Amino acid sequence: MLARANDAGGRERLMQIIRNDVRRIDRLITDISDASRLDAELSREASEPVNITQLLANIAEIYRMLGLPRGIALHLDAGASEMIVMGRDERLGQVFRNLIDNAISFSPDGGTVLLTARPLDGWIRICVEDDGTGIPPENLETIFNRFYTERPTEHGFGKNSGLGLSIARQIVNGAGGRIWAENREGKGARFAVELPVARGA
Ligand SMILES: Nc1ncnc2c1ncn2[C@@H]1O[C@H](COP(=O)(O)OP(=O)(O)OP(=O)(O)O)[C@@H](O)[C@H]1O
Ligand SMILES: [Mg+2]
Repeated sequence: MLARANDAGGRERLMQIIRNDVRRIDRLITDISDASRLDAELSREASEPVNITQLLANIAEIYRMLGLPRGIALHLDAGASEMIVMGRDERLGQVFRNLIDNAISFSPDGGTVLLTARPLDGWIRICVEDDGTGIPPENLETIFNRFYTERPTEHGFGKNSGLGLSIARQIVNGAGGRIWAENREGKGARFAVELPVARGA
C-alpha cells in the first residue's frame, strides 16, 4: 500500500500505522523471548532470603518517584513485623510490578492502589488491590494464561501481550508460593500472592 500511495498525507498515515505495528511486534517478541527464557533461568537461579517489607517499600517509592498517572495514589501497608521469604528479589519485584502496573491501568482517575503484606501461618500474603472494574468471575483463572489479554480499547491496541500474569505465576510457583485473583466486595480486583516464610526467619 505504501508503494501505491501517491499523496504525502496518505504515505505519512501509512508510515504511522507501520511504525505502530513494528512497535507492537517488537514488544511481543521481547515478551515472548523473556517468557521462554524464564523457565530455564528460574531453575538455575539460587534463591536467597528476600526481605518483603523492604522490597515493597522500595517498589512503592520508585512508583511515587516516577509519578503515578491520572491522580492515582499508591498506598503501602506492610504492618510492623519483619517478613522474609526465599527467592530472588528482582524476580519477586517483577511479580509485584506486573500486578501494580495492571492495577494502575485498571484504576479510575484518582483511584487508589493498595499494597498490603501480612504474615499468616507460615506464609506471607501480599495483596494488590484496585478500585477498577474488577474481573468477570468466569475469567479469574484464564487471565493467568499466556497471551490472555482483554482490555478496553482506549488502553491502546497491541500495547499489552497478555504475559504479565503468566510470568508472575511462573515466578511465584518457582518460589514455592501461589497466586490468585479475586474480586473485592465493593469494587475492583484483588491479586493475592502467598510465599512461604523463609525457614529460620
Ligand atoms: N487489576 C485488574 N483489574 C481487572 N482486570 C485485570 C487486572 N489485572 C489483570 N486483569 C485482566 O487480566 C488480563 C491479563 O493480565 P496480564 O498482566 O497477564 O496481561 P496484560 O496486562 O493485558 O498484558 P501485559 O502484562 O503483557 O502488558 C488483562 O488483560 C485483564 O483483562
Ligand atoms: Mg499486565
